[in-house]
Amino acid sequence: MTTKVAVVVGSLRKASINRQFAEALAKIARPKLDLQIVEIGDLPLYDQDLEGELPATVQRFKQQIESADAVLFITPEFNRTFSAAIKNAIEWGSRPWGRNSWAGKPTAIAGATLGAVGTAAAQSQLRSVVSAVGAALTVQPEIYLNYRDGLIVNGEITDASFVGLLEDFVAKFADWIARLRAPALTF
Ligand SMILES: Cc1cc2nc3c(=O)[nH]c(=O)nc-3n(C[C@H](O)[C@H](O)[C@H](O)COP(=O)(O)O)c2cc1C
Repeated sequence: MTTKVAVVVGSLRKASINRQFAEALAKIARPKLDLQIVEIGDLPLYDQDLEGELPATVQRFKQQIESADAVLFITPEFNRTFSAAIKNAIEWGSRPWGRNSWAGKPTAIAGATLGAVGTAAAQSQLRSVVSAVGAALTVQPEIYLNYRDGLIVNGEITDASFVGLLEDFVAKFADWIARLRAPALTF
């Protein structure tokens, strides 16, 4: 059975290194995990007044998260935190009251940046928010991509040791998803 992972990429720009990273990771993850990017750039800014009749883009987004087996956030670091686009998507996923799309969803986080700290600050803050909305977050291994020219060529990551780390990440995330799916033991 295919394990479907909804990938939320926090940068909206076309040439985003985070998007390139997500696409390269999707190739590494197959066939264990089927990573599909879920678009968030068309979501309106969260506004409680819109909850009465959810905008079509919000309905689509919530359905994509709910129908996935798991969620992977891939975040840039903007001013030492994760992107506003991700926060906006998290707000919509968590609402309206009683319709939290994140609840219990197996979730992992990764990120890419040009800066030396490799999204460590952004991911640390994103972990606390993702936990607060009730997602089932796994945190090991941590994945920080320090982008440099030549690291992603024709959609492939060229650093073999980083590819090895990503393979380990995929295996452990797949295991985490499987464990959460397993029926509870009864005595
Ligand atoms: C508004 C803004 C703030 C940024 N702040 C940080 C930061 O705090 N730490 C960091 O490592 N890089 C920072 N950067 C650089 C980003 O790592 C770089 O722009 C990266 O390419 C963004 O990801 P993307 O290519 O997926 O859009 C910042 C970039 C922008 C545009």
